[in-house]
Formats: sequence, structure tokens, C-alpha cells
Amino acid sequence: MEEQLDNIPRHVAIIMDGNGRWAKKRGSIRLSGHKAGAEALLRVLNYCEKYKVQYLSVYAFSTENWSRPKAEVDGLMSLLGNFLRNREEELIEAKCRFRVMGRKEGLSESLQKLISKVEASTKGFERQLIVCLNYGGRAELLDAAKKLAEDAARGDIDPQSLTEEKFGSYLYLPDVPDPDLIIRTSGEFRLSNFLLWEAAYSELYVTPVLWPDFSEEDFLSALKDFAKRTRKFGAITEDTTNK
Ligand code: FPP
Repeated sequence: MEEQLDNIPRHVAIIMDGNGRWAKKRGSIRLSGHKAGAEALLRVLNYCEKYKVQYLSVYAFSTENWSRPKAEVDGLMSLLGNFLRNREEELIEAKCRFRVMGRKEGLSESLQKLISKVEASTKGFERQLIVCLNYGGRAELLDAAKKLAEDAARGDIDPQSLTEEKFGSYLYLPDVPDPDLIIRTSGEFRLSNFLLWEAAYSELYVTPVLWPDFSEEDFLSALKDFAKRTRKFGAITEDTTNK
């Protein structure tokens, strides 16, 4: 599939939804849907390389996902561990920087160690895969507010001089540009606590396709839809003075 596309988003973020329904349709356990979801993620990472999307962020485990049955939580954590153990070389070969965004300290020590290892071995690369793990948009804002309050209490920052840019520097990955395009699979029209600050001006694209079925054609449809959008960032794009 060779396509010439204009206006490629620099940063695509994905809410990978529908793994459970995919498994249920096959009469299988939910974890088989998450396994197929991990394979879909690897495919999409390749599409990002092909279509020159520099940053890919994915919502892999939210701060709310701990309330799922223990077997599912444990299964997801071991999938993530296996991903890091088995795909490190592939990430290095693909020159892709791996980063985790979220409350890492809430993850098991062994997973934290694996994450640090792969983050370190891929650190120099420009392309990035950002996996949101134990992540919540509200948690991120709260964590930023707490750090800021500590700095203010020490006299390191004057709260009255705070700007959006300065506040943004307290978020988990301040050097990463905001997502241009947020894709949500499996048809639900909500953000589910994903990138609440960063999504302020993101274009949203919702597809009914379940995440494990998400194909190159589906990815291209999202890119083509994005290319047609006019982004205004709160401004206007034509002369409306007499309207
Ligand atoms: C939402 O589908 C999906 C998740 C909560 C987990 C997503 C995780 C992966 C795709 C695992 C792979 C990640 C890596 C980095 C290896 P759901 O379970 O809520 O689906 P449902 O709404 O159909 O029940």
C-alpha cells in the first residue's frame, strides 16, 4: 500500500479499546484480546515508521485499570514485561525510543527495572513509542500540582507568575509535543482520562474497529481524515469580520 499523504501528524496517540470484545466474539478469555492488542501495537509502530509519524503514544494501563480482576491485571503486567524483554532489540534496530508515561512507582519493581533498562538502551533515538502505564490524566495534573506546590513552598516559583508553558513543564514528559491526532478504537466517543492537558487541541478520530483488528488501512483512513481537517487552535481561518 503506497500512498502519498500530506500533513502527517507529528504525534499520534491511541486509546486501544475493544480487546475484551474482540476476545468475547471469539469465545476466548479477555487476555487473548490483550495479546492480540500487543501485536496490533507492533504493527502500528511499523506504520508510524512507514508514514513518518515521529511520536506514537498508547494508553496501555490506566490508573483505573487496577480495579479489573486480578488475573487480567497480572496478565496485562506480564504482557508488558514480555514486550520489554522480547522487543528491546527490535526497538533498537528500528531506532525507536521507548518511554513510559505514568506513575511508574506504582508498578512492580521488576517491571520498573525492565522499563529503565529499555528506556536507557533506546534513549538517543528521535522516533518515540510512549506507553502510558498506570497513567491517568487527572493523576498527571495532580502530580504536577503537588510538585509545583512544593516548589512554591520552597520559594522556587511564584504561583502568580505561572504560565501554561511553565505548568506544562511539571507534566510527566514535558519535552513531548501535544498529540495532533487521538485515535480511539471500538466506537466509544470519550477520552477516558487520557492526556487531559495535552489533548486540548488534538483532533479526535473514532473508529468502530476493535483494536486487535486495527489494520494499515484503518491507520491510513485516520491519517487521511486528519489531513482534511483545518486546525484553528481557537482562532479563525477566514475573514468573518462581516458575518
Ligand atoms: C482496553 O480494552 C485495553 C486495555 C485496558 C489494555 C490495552 C493493552 C494492550 C493492548 C496491551 C499491550 C501493550 C503493550 C505495551 C504490550 P478493553 O479491555 O477495555 O476492551 P473492552 O472494552 O472490549 O472490554
